[in-house]
Amino acid sequence: MFRLASCVLLLSALAPAADLAGTWQFEQAGRGGRGGQPGPPIVNTFIFKVDGTKFTGSWISPQQVLDIVNGSINGGEIAFQTSDDHSTIPPRIANYTGTLEGDQLTLTLVMGQQAARGGGRGTQTSLTAQATRSTSPEQAALDEAIAAAAQAGRGGRGGGGRGGAPAPMILKKINSATAFKAANPHAPFPPFKPIPPNGLAKTPPMGWNSWNKFAGRVDDKSVREMADAIASSGMRDAGYIYVNIDDTWEQGRIVDGAWVPGRDKDGNILTNEKFPDMKALADYVHSKGLKLGIYSGPGPRTCAGYEASYGHEEQDARTWAKWGIDYLKYDWCSGNQVYQGSEHPSAYQKMALALRATGRDIIFSLCQYGWLDVGEWGANAGGNLWRTTGDISDNWQSMSHIGFDQQAGREKYAGPGHWNDPDMLEIGNGGMTATEYRTHMSLWSVLAAPLLAGHDVRTMPDYIADILLNKEVIAIDQDPAGIQGTRVSQIGPEGYTLEVWKKPLAKGVAVGLFNRSLDTARLTVKWSDVGITAENPKVRDLWAHRDITNAATEYSVNVPSHGVVMLRVE
Ligand code: GLA
Repeated sequence: MFRLASCVLLLSALAPAADLAGTWQFEQAGRGGRGGQPGPPIVNTFIFKVDGTKFTGSWISPQQVLDIVNGSINGGEIAFQTSDDHSTIPPRIANYTGTLEGDQLTLTLVMGQQAARGGGRGTQTSLTAQATRSTSPEQAALDEAIAAAAQAGRGGRGGGGRGGAPAPMILKKINSATAFKAANPHAPFPPFKPIPPNGLAKTPPMGWNSWNKFAGRVDDKSVREMADAIASSGMRDAGYIYVNIDDTWEQGRIVDGAWVPGRDKDGNILTNEKFPDMKALADYVHSKGLKLGIYSGPGPRTCAGYEASYGHEEQDARTWAKWGIDYLKYDWCSGNQVYQGSEHPSAYQKMALALRATGRDIIFSLCQYGWLDVGEWGANAGGNLWRTTGDISDNWQSMSHIGFDQQAGREKYAGPGHWNDPDMLEIGNGGMTATEYRTHMSLWSVLAAPLLAGHDVRTMPDYIADILLNKEVIAIDQDPAGIQGTRVSQIGPEGYTLEVWKKPLAKGVAVGLFNRSLDTARLTVKWSDVGITAENPKVRDLWAHRDITNAATEYSVNVPSHGVVMLRVE
């Protein structure tokens, strides 16, 4: 009898666990429709993966995917956290509780927690550095999702009233196979077939991008001035050729309370008032011996919420070719509203084919944060480069975590025409020391990463120019063999290691001696460990700009905290 009762109790505790597994949706009325009408509904999809009384999952909103972590089930009550760990460091955490009744799940944000940063990885320095930067799109998306949930709840059942606690989100369970199609139907893709290379980006692309410094403040005037400065500062002659406009050049948003459509009546994508004449801007940038890049995405909206290319891929590619665009960064963001995960390669290939059909040489940059083993299919989808991580921030923790911890193992995917992209440079944005920026430049070069500066070139101080214009280091990045470097050794506690990296070159090997610890450290490299067999090789220190003698079989040197000694050995 007792055993039967405990069995029944156990079953009733587990039943909700099984019910939680699967796909749920929370739909909000869209904002900013024409003539005061609501816009299209905003769909938030939650996918819960249950293991006993624990669960994880994803929260997919039009702008962002958040990880669901530390989920626990107790009868019909659940609790979990959302984290944007894949995008910023340290991650931003929010706590939720929920009640499960049949096919209805009610979620409530635990107040006072939503701004917390968790994970215990952040230091005061990183928080301060992040606070001085414009809010990252991930943080903004999370803030917006939380605010939207609160607002939707207030307007709906059981709302907390203006200014009160956010009201619950009420989710409905749905059949996962139909979830994405229901949100935004699209014709099925034909089976995925690799396409041949487009012949571009034989070495990692170099240039400048507006996002890291200017985010939404980029405009025609600043791009022209940046082109002038890139030409006059020597950056152009050092190889920084692409001037790339990131998000917020588009139309498709609310201006003075009224919705401004993102396209004209024929479906042509529109620029906003910051970019009155994109063709004239391209002509100007070209006249400086530079090339112009632009930004869009496979979903209906960009990460900043502007018009993107869903359903207009060929038309947009033709528009950009007509304007004289030479580079496209194509950012997933709201792609989740339309496509399932397995459709990433086809959604990207659709744009690759559209670009090729224009007949113009346009570098194609995939931006989907390294999800779904992008290295396995990025080149076959027509990409010249693909992001491998979430967004970089201008601080040591972010840069070093991305560069040292998240790239090793991806080298097999890189080569002429197709590169791993650990995100754009932060050199010159003020959040790191000169020593740390030298490490940033050196590591990105060892990784054969694209070198897209992201600072205000108009006001670049000499010490930043010395870093970005170090031709000997740039030559490592741009080496024609196009081999991504690998780690040779790593010692010390996690996050504070001493590391030796090597990058085989067309002639010789580049060696980076990196010190991630808090004190100066002595590092040694034996030539035999980096593939140099000759005794007494020619050794050059690429930051000191001097040849090193007396290093017949190995070299030992003191490296400052967070610093690097970068060598070329032949
Ligand atoms: C994403 C990308 C960034 C930038 C922004 C623009 O976060 O990863 O590099 O393009 O979108 O909104």
